Amino acid sequence: MSTKILVTGGTGFIGSHTVVELYNAGYTPVIIDDLSNSSVKILDQIEKIIGMKPEFHQFDLCDQNKVNDFVAANPDIKGIIHFAAFKAVGESVQKPLEYYRNNFFSLINLLAAYKGKPINFVFSSSCTVYGQPDVLPVTEAAPVKKAESPYGNTKQIAEEILAETAAVSKNYNIVALRYFNPVGAHESALIGELPIGVPQNLVPFITQTAIGKRDKITVFGNDYDTADGSCVRDYIHVVDLANAHVAAIKRMEEGKSKANYEVYNIGTGKGTTVLEVIHAFEDSTGEKLNYMIGPRRAGDIEKVYGDATKSTKELGWTAELNIEDMMKSAWEWEKYIKNNPF
Ligand code: WQD
Repeated sequence: MSTKILVTGGTGFIGSHTVVELYNAGYTPVIIDDLSNSSVKILDQIEKIIGMKPEFHQFDLCDQNKVNDFVAANPDIKGIIHFAAFKAVGESVQKPLEYYRNNFFSLINLLAAYKGKPINFVFSSSCTVYGQPDVLPVTEAAPVKKAESPYGNTKQIAEEILAETAAVSKNYNIVALRYFNPVGAHESALIGELPIGVPQNLVPFITQTAIGKRDKITVFGNDYDTADGSCVRDYIHVVDLANAHVAAIKRMEEGKSKANYEVYNIGTGKGTTVLEVIHAFEDSTGEKLNYMIGPRRAGDIEKVYGDATKSTKELGWTAELNIEDMMKSAWEWEKYIKNNPF
């Protein structure tokens, strides 16, 4: 039997892609998800891709007893990739308590259930911990800045919880991956991003505008100090991001960790403006987008893109897919869900 890896939040956007790449790499993924922000139908979609339906447990990781019972009943789980968390920046400002409760209770319950037990643990962190970096591209050595939202704060404090736990308990082997902007979908167009309601993020808004669900997209500001005035981000294909998690598990499994808490940037190292993303979408799909320039969005930082040198050197991982792959795959997925609503 191949090594069992627990994927919390495994029916979500990044989680489902990581389940597929874990399986492709010879691992046996096991999913826990409370389905608060994803559809159980994703399990059938994963099965269509890999030929087997992953083991699935539906419960809330904020329930310590359920977490303890699961861990006791599954002693053969060797690693955890922890995605399960609330992640909408704007919503977190409106509902701070729900964000702190959900994101911290789930993390602490998981860690506490493995007290004294050897476990490899990959944490889904975010480039939001950097705020507006002073130097670009931003490296892992850059200072963590005061979070702009409760969501960003949960990521910063979660990293502190992990670092401080690892410092005193050597049974935990931990890697935190700081993502930049995950976009795109699996080449099969069977899994992808499923935003609930009006999308907050750029790429699902682009594809929903192109398919006619939205009548236009607004570019939030073109008066920034960038090539064309619109904000710069480091967009990364979700499949590249999924493979970074497999690389992190492998590093720990093969005993290559230099410390039992390590942090890596998972980005392409390339900055792309909002208008460049829009033009890349139009050029790669042939779809004309109805967009207008509007006012800046509160809380947006001007530009951020990552230096992934450390990830390449130590994880043996580099992003392989480009912005055209991201746009084409996102568009194929949008067309798929139009004909196959979840
Ligand atoms: C990207 C750019 C917008 C929508 C998000 C998460 C963050 C992290 C990274 C996980 C910005 C502009 C957007 C629109 C626009 N993810 N935009 N019109 O804000 O960089 O961060 O991904 O950890 O937590 O919040 O992503 O896609 O919302 O915005 O002009 O309709 O697109 O202003 O410059 P963001 P985003």
